[in-house]
Amino acid sequence: MKNTQDRQNKPTLTAEQQDQITAAAQILCEGGTVAFPTETVYGLGADVTNLDAVNKIYQIKQRPIDHPLIVHISDISHLHYWAQAIPDSAWQLANHFWPGPLTLILQRSRRIPDSVTGGQDTVGLRIPAHPIALTLLDALGPEKALAAPSANRFGRISPTTAAHVREELGSAVDMILDGGACEVGLESTIISFHDQSPKILRPGGIAVSALESVLDSPVMLAHNTSQTIRTSGSLPAHYAPATPLKIYSAKHLWDHTLALAAQGSRVLVMTWSDIGQLQPSDQSIQHFSMPADPVTYGQRLYAKLRQFDQAAFDYMIIEAPPDHPSWLAITDRLQRASYNPFDNKQN
Ligand code: TXA
Ligand code: MG
Repeated sequence: MKNTQDRQNKPTLTAEQQDQITAAAQILCEGGTVAFPTETVYGLGADVTNLDAVNKIYQIKQRPIDHPLIVHISDISHLHYWAQAIPDSAWQLANHFWPGPLTLILQRSRRIPDSVTGGQDTVGLRIPAHPIALTLLDALGPEKALAAPSANRFGRISPTTAAHVREELGSAVDMILDGGACEVGLESTIISFHDQSPKILRPGGIAVSALESVLDSPVMLAHNTSQTIRTSGSLPAHYAPATPLKIYSAKHLWDHTLALAAQGSRVLVMTWSDIGQLQPSDQSIQHFSMPADPVTYGQRLYAKLRQFDQAAFDYMIIEAPPDHPSWLAITDRLQRASYNPFDNKQN
């Protein structure tokens, strides 16, 4: 089983990291909250079986209580304990991609409290691929798991370093475990199995083509029209910086930028293609080139948005990503970051 193999190859942690994890496990067992690294983004964790601790997550994040949390486990053999009636396709995906950036929405077992699922019958489960997260989960034992949303305030950009968590949540969280920068940088792919057929609720760290090749069948994006499934990442405005963000194709990008600069605005322009080389010389425009491959782009995106958000630009202008499935998660996050309820003219 891939899971077991990966665990054997787990990088060794320093004695100091081990001590911090032991202290973190103690805090969690006493009903506290701990922010911890995963391969996707940092999570804000609490013991899933402790209602007061789970409530603290909602308070700290200022998240509506009907928005469910992902439950993190350390071993595929624990899946039956937290979920039931698990479809074959879910086992296939779990065996192939765990530990990794994939969340499966499954029918919950009675051990999952209502407050974790927002009262829904399903629970989101995943095994994160980060040695600190896995060691922390192991320290809690098989009858505990970590309910953990991304460690940011509701609607804001997910943190990809421990410093981001500190900026975002400060002393509201009891402890922050530092595991360096997250390798994937975007949240997990979320799959639901309504009517046994796998659908993508949120594109993320695992590409659609990889899911399709494991299942040997097409996997569709769920259009979130159902009121009964609440995925906060599927609200239009989410993952958002405070600076207004606009997306333009390469063809229109500099025209729009120059028009804003002419009105006296300071503009940050972020491109991935050669269009960046055509940058006009204007003091109020700052240009930043992102990598042209989606994996490295995804790793850096949130850190860059956060950095530019703090630099007091009036606008962030982002070049539209390529129209290719490997850019789906990036396109999804940029569109949500650019959503403005008062502006119908999205580009
Ligand atoms: O990569 C990730 O998934 C990160 C790391 C920390 O694991 N976690 C994360 O959690 O992004 P959060 O809470 O920020 O986003 C989880 C999404 C939410 O939009 C939530 O509504 C959805 O998963 N979700 C959780 N349980 C669900 C369920 N039972 N049905 C539908 N959506 C669910
Ligand atoms: Mg989140």
